[in-house]
Amino acid sequence: MKKFIEVVQEAGRNCVAIGHFNIADLVLLKGVFQAARELNVPVLVGASEGEREFAGTRQLAAVVQSLREEFDFPIFLNADHTHSLAKALEAVKAGFDSVVFDLSALPFAENARSTRHAIEELKSINPAVVVEGEIGDIGSGSEIHAASPSPDHALTTPEEAHQFAVETKVDTLAPAVGNLHGMRKSMVIGKERKHLAIKRIREIKSATSVPITLHGGSGTADEDLKGAIHAGINIVHINTELRLAWKQRLEAGLARRQDEVVPYKILPSAVAAVHDVVSARLRLFALQI
Ligand code: G3H
Ligand code: ZN
Repeated sequence: MKKFIEVVQEAGRNCVAIGHFNIADLVLLKGVFQAARELNVPVLVGASEGEREFAGTRQLAAVVQSLREEFDFPIFLNADHTHSLAKALEAVKAGFDSVVFDLSALPFAENARSTRHAIEELKSINPAVVVEGEIGDIGSGSEIHAASPSPDHALTTPEEAHQFAVETKVDTLAPAVGNLHGMRKSMVIGKERKHLAIKRIREIKSATSVPITLHGGSGTADEDLKGAIHAGINIVHINTELRLAWKQRLEAGLARRQDEVVPYKILPSAVAAVHDVVSARLRLFALQI
């Protein structure tokens, strides 16, 4: 089985991206895994600190590893948006393949210094672990946000990206390129889509030699995602779209069968909803269709 960093590098050479999908339960994991297996493309599942708190850090690692082994399939596990070294160490010790070490709320120099230190610590436990650093403000919360206009989020400059990559030695880098976490209500009903600064992605790519991750993928226009991948994005994170599909189909399933109490009869429609979202996104990211 290839290591996760090799899979990311291969995606870069092929001008495609790895899809990263957040999971907090078996319904989400099943939907993601089924879609990736059908399309036969590698996939990264992620769990934030809150998602790990809910599902169990070691338990998630065990379930993902069991899928990888039983099906001999390249499914990898990421400790998403991890804000402390202690939480990152916990995930790496549990067997996570990668960590998004997110100190982007701190001043640049402090973020760089602490990220570099964390990378040394994490790689002393597992030299193959992939550590991502975050710079710039892309908002927080994979949720439905109020319809207020989004504040102006400054784009990461190529100089900042270069400096951060050199100073920290991150394996992958997540910049602010017009992306934002979560979706506005207008995006949920399809009236608005997110757009990305494709030119800036291209500039950042040529200023750094590390793979680049796009966070906040939910609600982004397909054409922008295609353009971003061509410009150098190697991993795309999707969460809110999955949460939305999960909730909507669960509610519909419960309402339709009010006397049903058997989970494995109620939940398959939510698995199917997650599968459909992931399948459409993976076709775009990994197969360019
Ligand atoms: O790390 C997770 C993501 O960046 C997801 O963002 O909820 O806007 O898809 P999203
Ligand atoms: Zn994110």
